[in-house]
Amino acid sequence: MTVESAELIDRAIKILDNNFQDGGFTIPSKGLYPFQWKWDSGFIALGFAHYNMDKAKKEIRTLLNAQWGNGFIPHIVFHNDSDTYFPGPDFHQSHLHPLASKEYRSTGMTQPPVFGFILEQLLRIAEDKDDILQFIGNQIDKIYKNHEYFYTNRDLNGDGLAYIYHNWESGTDNSPLWDDIWQTMNPPEYTFERRDTTHVDASQRPSNREYDHYLHIIEIAKTYNYEDARIAEHSPFLVLDPLFNAMLIKSNESLINLYTLLGKGQKEIDQLKKWQALSIEGLNTKLYNEELGAYVHYDLRNDRQLPYVCSSSFAPLFSMAPSKIIAKRLVETMMEKFGGEDRYLCASFDPTHERFNPKKYWRGPVWINMNWIIYQGLKKQGFDELAARIKSDSLALIERNGFFEYFDARKENPDGDMSGYGGNNFSWSAALLIDFLKQND
Ligand code: GLC
Repeated sequence: MTVESAELIDRAIKILDNNFQDGGFTIPSKGLYPFQWKWDSGFIALGFAHYNMDKAKKEIRTLLNAQWGNGFIPHIVFHNDSDTYFPGPDFHQSHLHPLASKEYRSTGMTQPPVFGFILEQLLRIAEDKDDILQFIGNQIDKIYKNHEYFYTNRDLNGDGLAYIYHNWESGTDNSPLWDDIWQTMNPPEYTFERRDTTHVDASQRPSNREYDHYLHIIEIAKTYNYEDARIAEHSPFLVLDPLFNAMLIKSNESLINLYTLLGKGQKEIDQLKKWQALSIEGLNTKLYNEELGAYVHYDLRNDRQLPYVCSSSFAPLFSMAPSKIIAKRLVETMMEKFGGEDRYLCASFDPTHERFNPKKYWRGPVWINMNWIIYQGLKKQGFDELAARIKSDSLALIERNGFFEYFDARKENPDGDMSGYGGNNFSWSAALLIDFLKQND
């Protein structure tokens, strides 16, 4: 390892350790995100695993402690009070759901199901395989129950695809895709005090009107006490997301591998295989867009594909879902639209599209967790050269700008050198940099 890499890893470790809280969890970024976020926790655990496996385990245990009686895992767990974030626990009111955790306050929405594959990655990283297998053996049924929750409550048409009912469930909160859904809604203008724009330049964050939509969907879900069947009936936002479902499929795959290694859970393995076959078929028929050569989102409320290419379009590469032909096509699409030599891979939204914005949240910038997912996918499908490029682009962005939340994809930034945006000292950028640099390839 070079001196520069070792120095970057040291900085990343400091960030993770500073963001780690007494309650046994890690905040994504001080001020902007002062609680525990679901999928952040998974990526953060990967970073810890390289130098402090106890912290990695603790991160996961703490999150899973907040799991609901029906297997649901919330997207934010409010372990502590904070006046730097809106909307907080008093707005979300997770206790409205009869099976919500009695011990932890949370939101009533979720995020992409990453924990199946995160457990498998911990096994890859761990030096003490027996110890980590014991940990996995203790946690795996909780993840299985989470998948069971999705297939029982979120698969509206029985095609193996889980819907999301809020853009915050996608993880790609402010994608231009959602503009199409906002056009079908006309929410009231709420009076509220934003906190995010006190930490970050407003030009890099969503508008107040966009927040009206976000809050309105939550108000509707609360009216129905967060009951899935009622949400499915009444939410104006009901979408099948290729990233979310690719993570589910990838995690199914990992759960099957892990149960097999542990020598237990035959019933669970059989069930996972059935779900898996259904989900792969569903993803390839409902979410693949032949013309665009990409997986796209599907708006269930209005029964239509949302025909846009974004970084989520490539996430299925990480799973066993795409055929060789589709995988090749995805890579061609990526190179055509996102891969110019004047850009870092991989912008979060189609750079050739008029809705692309190089600075705004999920409307264009590069995110390190998406790059990590796509990198794993490219390697899995045998595109090693492109995988190497996405890795070196990720490292270059952090090295040049620091450990930001998101980055400008343009190599020549017309506004000067500063190409890191959003929160600074951002946990998953630090955690995944460590994993990128410690992977032997
Ligand atoms: C933003 C991102 C979301 C992430 C959260 C905490 O809301 O869109 O994916 O989980 O920040 O980092």
